[in-house]
Amino acid sequence: MLKHLALAATLAGSVASGWLAPAVQKGKAAGDAAKGKELFAQTCAPCHSASSKATNVGPGLKGLFKEKKMPATGRPVSVALVKSQIQKGGGGMPAFGSKYSAQELTDLIAYLRAL
Ligand code: HEC
Repeated sequence: MLKHLALAATLAGSVASGWLAPAVQKGKAAGDAAKGKELFAQTCAPCHSASSKATNVGPGLKGLFKEKKMPATGRPVSVALVKSQIQKGGGGMPAFGSKYSAQELTDLIAYLRAL
């Protein structure tokens, strides 16, 4: 009986999260800058300043999306390019490949946009 209850609860849980997930993702289409800030602090901050344009290991990213050109390569700034820089790295920056989900990349972008 207990086993059945546990199973029923698990099933109800997964059905509920399955139903809720699209709504939650839709709500976060613009990205969660607070989550992005955490990810940045964990991974990017050792090499990139968020509060200046000064170069540490990589260029400071303050105001990244307010500029026309990427700070190191001079390519035109775009969301797609920043995501690709994160996934593929280049110019001394490591590639993070599939470390981040699409949602996490969007969260990182939301944070970078706010700098
Ligand atoms: C180990 C150090 C290191 C880490 C960690 C790192 N980067 Fe970089 N990053 C660099 C270096 C070095 C460059 C300069 C690349 C070049 O000269 O082309 C760079 C360049 C960039 C650029 C500018 C690219 C251009 O075209 O000008 C962006 C944006 C960027 N990094 C974002 C990030 C983000 C976001 C993270 C975290 C997910 C991150 N980086 C993690 C070292 C790092």
